[in-house]
Amino acid sequence: MIFKVPRGTQDILPSETWKWQQVEKVILEACDVYRYKEIRTPIFEQTELFQRLVGDTTDIVQKEMYTFTDKGDRSMTLRPEGTAPVVRSFVEHKMFGYPDQPVKLFYTGPMFRYERQQAGRYRQFVQFGAEAIGSADPAIDAEVISLALDVYKRVGLTKLKLVINSLGDKECRAAHKEALVSHFNPHIDQFCPDCQTRLEKNPLRILDCKVDSGNPLIASAPSLADYLNEESASYFESVKSFLEDAGIDYEVDPNLVRGLDYYNHTAFEIMSTSEGFGAITTLCGGGRYNGLAEEIGGPSAPGIGFAMSIERLLLAMEAESKIFADEPTLDVYIITLGETARRPGFKLLNELRAAGIRTDLDYMDRKLKAQMKSADRLQARMVVIIGEDEVTEGAVQLKIMADGTQEKVPVGELVEKIIKNTTR
Ligand code: HAM
Repeated sequence: MIFKVPRGTQDILPSETWKWQQVEKVILEACDVYRYKEIRTPIFEQTELFQRLVGDTTDIVQKEMYTFTDKGDRSMTLRPEGTAPVVRSFVEHKMFGYPDQPVKLFYTGPMFRYERQQAGRYRQFVQFGAEAIGSADPAIDAEVISLALDVYKRVGLTKLKLVINSLGDKECRAAHKEALVSHFNPHIDQFCPDCQTRLEKNPLRILDCKVDSGNPLIASAPSLADYLNEESASYFESVKSFLEDAGIDYEVDPNLVRGLDYYNHTAFEIMSTSEGFGAITTLCGGGRYNGLAEEIGGPSAPGIGFAMSIERLLLAMEAESKIFADEPTLDVYIITLGETARRPGFKLLNELRAAGIRTDLDYMDRKLKAQMKSADRLQARMVVIIGEDEVTEGAVQLKIMADGTQEKVPVGELVEKIIKNTTR
């Protein structure tokens, strides 16, 4: 039997993890500057949490969840997204009572969706997300969008497009829903079975259907923009003004509806406009979700957030030919010759590492030539050679690889000498 990584998942090998670590570093730096604090929630939650918050009629809940019954006969689901768990935690830990509001949180971790695998779409992917909960100030909408863009900017991406829309509040949604039902109802038999179910429950989802996207009735459907009440329209105007104040360019797309049910008012996506990018161009999605905390028994706590996958961020970097600086290489490779040098060599290895010097040693009992080759391959800056004579003398040979010079150095002076030769 040959075992392979499950479909839609991937091993991230050492040659790639360096990039991931760099992205994670950038995320930490950006969140620090914006004052978002990290939250870590479990990988699985009660299934009902996602059914209630993400929405029963969404593709995620209907088709994509990894749901299982645990040994206590409870239905659990591997998290398909991070907002519902964060809001659950916000309510459970009464974060609405924290003196500093809004509560600004971020997370990075794996999410799971049973989707058809293609470039940029996986069954396990890592999302970086941020949520600001507790404020209905349109300026925070602009802040959240700015944070997402800032992360992209910090990794060097420039070919980006921000698309925004307003989904209005409950009142305008209800009026728009009625208009959508009247529009689609007479022709609903032209649509896929999912859309036929959506018509009654959530006709907005029809606009977002992957199967029926080419149907002209979608293009001619009543636009939510025409149903925004005064309050929602003025909120949207304010968000746009704050984006302008932050120097952020945007496009308004009245058809941007997003695939999750919890949104109202601001919805946004950031796309890659890079030519080399694949079919899926959305790098990041987010929006406002007033009323979500109330949905699970919490107080009214308006929130806004976004999530982006690291996989798509890295694909966008590749498409724009942006690369991280090389991984730091080895400072010192210790070569030991003969049995007597083994223990002094190992002792030295530990001393150099304790001094913060990147050091490695041969564990394969190789000859001098082969050890030298390893040092070359690992791009060691220096090589320390310990033979029988050196052990007796309490010294080592220190070779600087850049110019090939070699000198005998007493063990007591070695750390200092090496640090001098290590430009970090
Ligand atoms: P979402 O649009 O479902 O929103 O996902 C956000 C981002 O996660 C996408 O733009 C994409 O970068 C990434 N993503 C989603 N599915 C996949 C996949 N199968 N493979 C790779 N990447 C994927 C949410 O998840 C919301 N929780 C965002 C949010 C936070 N809204 C408010 N706060």
